[in-house]
Amino acid sequence: MKDIVAIYPGSFDPVTNGHLDLIHRGSKLFGRLIVAIARNLDKAEPLFDLEERKEMLEAMTAELDNVSVEIFEGLLVHYCIQRNANAVLRGIRAVSDYEFELQMALMNRKMEPRVETVFMMPAEKYSYLSARIVREIAKLGGPLTGLVPEMVEQRVRRKIAQKQTSSTGSHLKRRTKP
Ligand code: PNS
Repeated sequence: MKDIVAIYPGSFDPVTNGHLDLIHRGSKLFGRLIVAIARNLDKAEPLFDLEERKEMLEAMTAELDNVSVEIFEGLLVHYCIQRNANAVLRGIRAVSDYEFELQMALMNRKMEPRVETVFMMPAEKYSYLSARIVREIAKLGGPLTGLVPEMVEQRVRRKIAQKQTSSTGSHLKRRTKP
């Protein structure tokens, strides 16, 4: 597998310890691993913008020589061909992930048979972890210890505080209008 370039795509909003676990596993298996942040037009307003997510991923993977971080838009399979990648890496945490992941893998293979999807399981301790849950716990003031790296936790808390201040500010502005 050392001659294979793989792409690990996702939203990474924010990067979690589960993502990092998979990146470490993928970097051992493949010759090169590109962590690719999708510019996803369908998703509701993200917590972090794409550049912020890239910055955090880069900081957290800096010690892995064969891992790089990029932002992509459009179809994943087009991006794979453009980057000469022949594999897509995806994590499966539980059976509930399987249906969606299978659909995506088969559709990608139909569109581009040269690209194979490889599934890996993160460590069991991350099987209940997702970026969505991290965002929700953080918004409600819960603990993030063990779920994301410390630097990411600090940035999540700062970002949520900023968003709450700006939404309170706009609420007050609205109230003072005649
Ligand atoms: O972290 P996520 O949100 O589960 O990642 C989903 C992602 C980004 C891998 C998926 O939405 C994707 O591949 N988007 C790119 C557009 C695309 O190729 N869509 C067709 C998929 S069959």
